Amino acid sequence: MTDGRKGNKKNEKAVTCCGKPKEDLQKMPSCQSSVTAEDDRLGNEDAPCNDGINRSRPRLKKIAFFDNKPYDRRSFDDVNKKYGYDIVYFHDKLNKHTVNLANGFDAVCIFVNDIVDKDMVEALLKNGVRLIVLRCAGYNNVALESVYGKIHVARVPAYSPYAVAEHTVALLLTLNRKTHKAYNRVRDGNFSIDGFLGVDLFGKTAGIIGTGQIGKRLISILKGFGMKILAYEPKPDEEYAKKENIKYVPREEIYKNADVISLHCPLVPETYHLINDEAIGLMKKGVVMLNTGRGGLIDTKALIAGLKKGLIGAAGLDVYEEESEYFFEDFSSTIIKDDVLARLLTFPNVLITSHQAFFTKEALYNIATTTLDNVKEFFDGGYLKNEICYRCNKPCRKKQGERCF
Ligand SMILES: NC(=O)c1ccc[n+]([C@@H]2O[C@H](COP(=O)([O-])OP(=O)(O)OC[C@H]3O[C@@H](n4cnc5c(N)ncnc54)[C@H](O)[C@@H]3O)[C@@H](O)[C@H]2O)c1
Repeated sequence: MTDGRKGNKKNEKAVTCCGKPKEDLQKMPSCQSSVTAEDDRLGNEDAPCNDGINRSRPRLKKIAFFDNKPYDRRSFDDVNKKYGYDIVYFHDKLNKHTVNLANGFDAVCIFVNDIVDKDMVEALLKNGVRLIVLRCAGYNNVALESVYGKIHVARVPAYSPYAVAEHTVALLLTLNRKTHKAYNRVRDGNFSIDGFLGVDLFGKTAGIIGTGQIGKRLISILKGFGMKILAYEPKPDEEYAKKENIKYVPREEIYKNADVISLHCPLVPETYHLINDEAIGLMKKGVVMLNTGRGGLIDTKALIAGLKKGLIGAAGLDVYEEESEYFFEDFSSTIIKDDVLARLLTFPNVLITSHQAFFTKEALYNIATTTLDNVKEFFDGGYLKNEICYRCNKPCRKKQGERCF
């Protein structure tokens, strides 16, 4: 091992200031500290900079960014100007075939369809990964129990509940008033309105399953339409219900009474296939089913059966249980081999969007900022406020203001 602290010319050249290569200094003219690569490797704090950026963190941590898209790169590169991490973008999703791309990285940044299962934890550890940052709220794709005690996991608990709630309403309004069909019909010179008959949402009943941030935001919007609200939560927020004049009821009551049902709970073992044959059998005929939560909340085959029988009046889906194969990619010139998805696409009363409910400028900015804040908090060594573990709903050290392990 070389002593890089003093007089190691090679290291001094490699990293000159704030963990940045020398050539980058031109882009950071106000940065005047001088540190060595060995400082960085040892995690020593930077010398003070006068560019207004807090440098009190180990520098040049390497982040392997999986399943990147051009819009991810744009927002992360922009926000990363404040943090200065070394982010390497990979097109591939993280899975057992690609896990070795993470070799030599301190952290992996993943999205909804990247998988960290039990078998991958050791491989990530072997590659030197100490942190998984999810750039999303849901974490059903990470085997939290297997990763516990080995690699810390942090997520973005909220980036824009408005984005998802508003997209849910877009699905509802489109399905109800058939604007997707009207758009094409009118452009084709056909000004007939036959087949576009909708209903007034005013006075109808919406059933909201899961009243966290997104569910609550959706309730506010639907109340604006004059809809009555029934809600389900394992632990109802009665104070909120009183204030907002909504009613918490058992799920079965929602199924029996709601004209519109929208899912906003996490995908966990208890909610897997929450909407199945039995639930659909209890629902009001013609119900509009909306899912911007997670695909696995609905048994898609049961949904298709319900649609075929006319029990389900319409379905607006931003998520699909087997979406990881298709969503976010262009398959317009190939054959869709998933027969369930292909069948869903044939219904005139089904509207599928490709997991885009989160996709607003504000949300992308918030996702990048919170993700890089999570990385900073982790490598700074203190409490990691957005950390998650399989014990978080049980006695967890996080409740005492410590890291989960
Ligand atoms: N489509 C998208 O782009 C997109 C974006 C963000 C989030 N989501 C999904 O939306 C879900 C909700 O997000 P959020 O920010 O409102 O989360 P949140 O944690 O604020 O709210 C989730 C709510 O669900 C409740 N819940 C837990 N178990 C339940 C159960 N068995 N039945 C009913 N409710 C239950 C929780 O108590 C909580 O109130 C996320 O879990 C995520 O899967 C989708």
